[in-house]
Amino acid sequence: MSNVTDAEALLPNAVAALLCQEGPLIPRHSYKVNNQHGRREVHVLHCMNSQQAALYASMFDVILYQPEIPPNTGNIIRLCANTGVRLHLVKPLGFTLEDKQLMRAGLDYHEFATITVHETWASCLDQFTDRRIFAVTTKGEERYDLNQYVSGDAFLFGPETRGLPEEVLKRFPEKQRIRLPMLPESRSLNLSNAVAIVVYEALRQSRFDSCR
Ligand SMILES: C[S@@+](CC[C@H](N)C(=O)[O-])C[C@H]1O[C@@H](n2cnc3c(N)ncnc32)[C@H](O)[C@@H]1O
Repeated sequence: MSNVTDAEALLPNAVAALLCQEGPLIPRHSYKVNNQHGRREVHVLHCMNSQQAALYASMFDVILYQPEIPPNTGNIIRLCANTGVRLHLVKPLGFTLEDKQLMRAGLDYHEFATITVHETWASCLDQFTDRRIFAVTTKGEERYDLNQYVSGDAFLFGPETRGLPEEVLKRFPEKQRIRLPMLPESRSLNLSNAVAIVVYEALRQSRFDSCR
């Protein structure tokens, strides 16, 4: 309790503390505070040192384009927290980051992901100018498991009810529009399942270097 600042004490429970626009932040510790907003958990983040930053730099990113359903994003936050994959959320979101369902699915007190919220798709793209992005789409021609992924690759997923819009998809070459095989008449997988399948394929190809 000794280090609680006013700003920290005002943070909404958990997730808002994880938003980082400037660069990589990592959770260091958390503690409980009582204030006029009730009893809440405050999570303190610190900038990474260069060794940690190098480790983080050698990983993958998941981008959720305008996600709509809180428990899906919650599951994906949990996946990212457990695999070290960085998560990007492109606004508008179909929920607030304090949403109870998102919190329930996504976090408990020691489970964190590095999350960046982007105001627009254009501002998100600006952060990936020198990186490969794979659009994961039911409209893809390329099977996801036939591509070779390398550290620094990012995977873009569409909103639950609409998928990725054509104007977003058209910037990607065919090789970077990947699909998860399904039965011929099937429509789509659940978003969080699709993310988990792709993330674990990328990690498998990197021999789970960052995991054990
Ligand atoms: C519920 S799906 C969206 C369904 C939408 N009608 C469509 O066809 O894209 C949400 C997201 O999960 C991913 N997804 C689900 N199933 C997929 C599949 N078989 N292949 C590739 N991506 C898939 C895509 O990123 C998709 O935008």
